[in-house]
Amino acid sequence: MKRVAILISGGGSNMRALVESMTADHPARACLVLSNDPHAAGLTYAAGQGVPTAAVDHRPFRGDRTAFEQKLLEPLEAAEPDIVCLAGFMRVLTGDFVNRFAGRMINIHPSLLPKYKGLDTHARALAAGDRQHGCSVHEVTAALDDGPILGQARLDVEQGDTAQSLAARVLKLEHQLYPAVLRRFAQGDRTPVLIG
Ligand code: GRF
Repeated sequence: MKRVAILISGGGSNMRALVESMTADHPARACLVLSNDPHAAGLTYAAGQGVPTAAVDHRPFRGDRTAFEQKLLEPLEAAEPDIVCLAGFMRVLTGDFVNRFAGRMINIHPSLLPKYKGLDTHARALAAGDRQHGCSVHEVTAALDDGPILGQARLDVEQGDTAQSLAARVLKLEHQLYPAVLRRFAQGDRTPVLIG
């Protein structure tokens, strides 16, 4: 059974979808939900599901990324994860941290990568007049939002879509895509999952 640690920063709706998917004959189970915000609502949900939780507040480290990551590594390595999922985790991780989990850390990003790495993806897709938009799951490498694609889900941009309405529809796709990719990834299958 593969052990999966999930990193979150807030509500953790993607984490919830992942946790709910890991049941019955699924080859993985959540071993930790870890947040950079001790007040993240996702921590309460995870604890309610019996998943071990931990939090390391990034704010006291005031931009000393390495010191923060050294603290973050303690509960993460103690959980002995086989796979690390970033799910709405809003801190940029250094190459040193990422390299410790090379090939077994994945992330979901709300765009059709390689388009729109970084933030404000929905507004950028609208501004560009894209007819399609969506989300991607990729292996995490030192370069931001740049690793090999493990899955993509796409939808049609509709007349009158705003960044908010688009974000809401993409988020629903994320909740389908991420569990599907994790299930495949946990079996060592890197064939991309394509939805829509
Ligand atoms: C959402 O914008 C999602 O697109 C991105 O992270 C944000 C929060 O996700 N992956 P979650 O609800 O915390 O999973």
